[in-house]
Amino acid sequence: MNEIVLNHPLITHKLAILRDVNTGTKEFRELVTEISTLLCYEATKDAKLEEAEIETPLAKMKTGKLNEDNYAVVPILRAGMGMVEGIINVIPNAKVGHIGLYRNEETFEPVEYYYKMPDGIGDRIAMIIDPMLATGGSVSATIDKLKADGVKQIKFLCIVAAPEGIRALEANHPDVQIYCATVDEHLNPNAYIVPGLGDAGDRIYGTK
Ligand code: URA
Repeated sequence: MNEIVLNHPLITHKLAILRDVNTGTKEFRELVTEISTLLCYEATKDAKLEEAEIETPLAKMKTGKLNEDNYAVVPILRAGMGMVEGIINVIPNAKVGHIGLYRNEETFEPVEYYYKMPDGIGDRIAMIIDPMLATGGSVSATIDKLKADGVKQIKFLCIVAAPEGIRALEANHPDVQIYCATVDEHLNPNAYIVPGLGDAGDRIYGTK
């Protein structure tokens, strides 16, 4: 089992508002940001700190600091962009790489149309972000690409996951840790997560 599910009353509360069909764009965006910060908190639990010596107003002390430059946040366009702020709120110096994929309507395979990563991507911890883990096709393709670029440590952060997507990702990339706010019931025939929250990109950007 590679998924860590954030079972927490605050998450359940925020998800209840996020999912609600009557929640408007502004509140939806804010909640995506807040939940993303909480996911990032969980995803950095195993972060290695570098030794640091600082001076408080009262004394010198040895402590630890995160090398924020070790991280690359990788939103999958377009909905993944909605989660960026929540991550860089707490890792402000993380670099951000972007990947854009669309689905070939005949083969249903993801096709890449945009890919730009920060320098030295192979040496960074990549945090891929996308609010919805549905079939797992886009994130698997993103991981394939990052691994081909030499990335060795990859984490995937999403808000709502379908069991089908978790199974697919675990089969394709068992080394990738999945962090999700919740796991829903199933995918419908159109690959929407049920009960889910609808189309995350449309709700973030107020389209449709
Ligand atoms: N993408 C979405 O935005 N919503 C879903 O339910 C599935 C994929």
